[in-house]
Amino acid sequence: MLRPPEYVQKINPYVPGKPIEELQRELGISECIKLASNENPLGPSTLALKEMQKEFVGINRYPDGSAYRLKTALSQTFGVDTQEIVIGHGSNELLDIAVRTFMQAGDVNIMADPSFIVYYNSTVKAGGLAIKVPLTHDHRHDLPTILSRITKNTKIVFIANPNNPTGTIVSSEEFDAFMKAIPDNVLVIVDEAYYEYVTDRTYPDTMRYFREGYPILILRTFSKIYGLAGLRIGYGIASSAIVSEMDKVREPFNTSSVAQAAAVEALKDTEHIQRSVAVNEEGKTYLYEQLRQMTVVYIPTQGNFIYVDIKQDANNINNKLLQRGVIIRPMGKTTIRVTIGLAHENETFIRNLKEVL
Ligand SMILES: Cc1ncc(COP(=O)(O)O)c(C=O)c1O
Repeated sequence: MLRPPEYVQKINPYVPGKPIEELQRELGISECIKLASNENPLGPSTLALKEMQKEFVGINRYPDGSAYRLKTALSQTFGVDTQEIVIGHGSNELLDIAVRTFMQAGDVNIMADPSFIVYYNSTVKAGGLAIKVPLTHDHRHDLPTILSRITKNTKIVFIANPNNPTGTIVSSEEFDAFMKAIPDNVLVIVDEAYYEYVTDRTYPDTMRYFREGYPILILRTFSKIYGLAGLRIGYGIASSAIVSEMDKVREPFNTSSVAQAAAVEALKDTEHIQRSVAVNEEGKTYLYEQLRQMTVVYIPTQGNFIYVDIKQDANNINNKLLQRGVIIRPMGKTTIRVTIGLAHENETFIRNLKEVL
């Protein structure tokens, strides 16, 4: 009988947030809200939408595999060389590419727990071993323990900053000590998918480490604040040596022409970015206040989502919320993650949460 390798059989498939249409179909209702996948509730930038429409007429052609225009725009925005940028269909693909580039079967990668599940899956599906280091009691990365778990077999350490699902960050002081102790044959992947939402002044400037020659890959995405999750496009910044190795593993036409063009415009649309941050901050204040009044425990977030401990069975509460047309994400036994939405979405979530708790 045809069977994949044992390490593939052991993978728990990624469970995404339920699509709105699926829930509408199941419940036969038209009013649903999705606060499950940390998408931008404002939608995409209008500049990006206009540019995409122009781009459609050329989709009989393959895209520019080198993503020249997007790399140039990113290079101008962040002051890095185009050779220090790698583009992926989502930062998710870049995680996979980095693992396949720098790790071989039997090697070890280290990640926090709980953190973004793709670090684990990418490692395991490439035949690697994943070491999960629990977060500290205050839900933050335990960098000293991560360092202590590094051996000669370690290839990659993943740090989500802010962390998904907890929304906590590693501070610049902690990060500095960590990077100084990292062996130069271990790649540190700093996943900054929520970078643009961070307001905490202790957030590290990771670009500094890349410029100083540390073994670091910084990942960011157009899926979150830029509102382009459906197009699948993200970018990585690293030394040209790291980027050129990843380019050997990357598929030649891994991102579409439409996604590349939209990303260039989204990057320019600073008004859309500022508005998105403002909406997130307002929603955050409202949700904190409501959760406090309900004496529900939450972790203050630096992202566009909040990790909430409802002290009840999370799957049960999730099912009850789904019945009411509210899609959130159950995480641990008693914890859920809710994306910060528009005012009316946040209100609907709170109203329904009050009913089901
Ligand atoms: C921490 C983190 N990294 C990466 C991603 C993947 O983003 P993309 O859409 O760019 O693949 C997500 C998406 O939820 C995330 O939360």
